[in-house]
Amino acid sequence: MALDKFGRSISYLRISLTDHCNLRCVYCMPEDMTFRPNADLMQDDEVLFFTNLFASLGFHKMRLTGGEPTVRANIVELVQGISSTPGVRSLSMTTNGVMLKKLAASLAAAGLKRVNISLDTLDPEKFRRLTRWGNLEDVWMGLQAAEDAGLAPIKINAVVVRGYNERDVLEIAKLTLEHPWQVRFIEMMPFAGATELQVNQVVDWEEMHRRIERALGTLEIVDNGKLDGEARLFHLPGAVGDIGFISSVTKPFCATCNRARLTADGRLRLCLLREKEVDLLTPLRKGASAEDLRAMILDGIWHKPWGHGLEQGIIPLNRVMSEIGG
Ligand code: 5AD
Ligand code: SF4
Repeated sequence: MALDKFGRSISYLRISLTDHCNLRCVYCMPEDMTFRPNADLMQDDEVLFFTNLFASLGFHKMRLTGGEPTVRANIVELVQGISSTPGVRSLSMTTNGVMLKKLAASLAAAGLKRVNISLDTLDPEKFRRLTRWGNLEDVWMGLQAAEDAGLAPIKINAVVVRGYNERDVLEIAKLTLEHPWQVRFIEMMPFAGATELQVNQVVDWEEMHRRIERALGTLEIVDNGKLDGEARLFHLPGAVGDIGFISSVTKPFCATCNRARLTADGRLRLCLLREKEVDLLTPLRKGASAEDLRAMILDGIWHKPWGHGLEQGIIPLNRVMSEIGG
């Protein structure tokens, strides 16, 4: 089991399969984003090698992210390989949903259990403005396909950005009245690149919560406010789904963090919001043994930072979100 020096047991790995994406969300990347050449990214055999290595260290929960994981070639075969790795008990994916209409059934057959789908507004025009390139209808069909394929429970991620979609939280919250989904509202976080918008247009979770209660009624707290992953859950009267708030900026959940990340270029990222990383891919390509790499992972995990430094104004500048994978 991988432990850090604060006694947290780290068993959840988020693997970014590519930094590429078929959208350009304003809170994530600039429109003229340049991506890494494919040769810099982990190749399929390298992804599977690392999956095996992490699983042998007790990482039993895996999530595939990007960029957008579904734009990676061979995604279905990769899912098949990862889901059948001994020790991997649950495999999920965070996706923008655009490709799910085509892929949901094969991904489910390959062993994917669940998806988190990003959806920040139900208004097609605003959706286009937020994602720059996206078509709301594609995501909606993707959601349907995910549900038909049994990739449940479906979670919806909505990043709330002032001036773009702060009023749209109501329509999105109302989805839980009819659908057994968990809708999660996410405070925007700052990274290199799009930083100005990310710092100045944050909507904190209390404002979202207040807005929803005022319009739709009292939000009952679920499970005494215990965190479900990173989300604090609530319930609208009569709803079949839950509403969660992910308050990374104003109320961090670092104390219960159990996760580490593998970036698309094969670095172990110890905290989403800290620059510290351990390069695993370069040593692998230079011939390091599984034993050497295991030791590097355990040492990196031991030194996992306690939490982020946003309150002290420390923003990670070495990467944008799409390279780390959320
Ligand atoms: N702050 C918070 N969440 C973000 N995401 C992308 N950029 C940011 C940001 N700056 C989210 C997306 C998606 C996941 C991959 O990360 O909405 O749900
Ligand atoms: Fe792509 Fe997701 Fe970033 Fe949007 S948030 S640009 S969908 S990686």
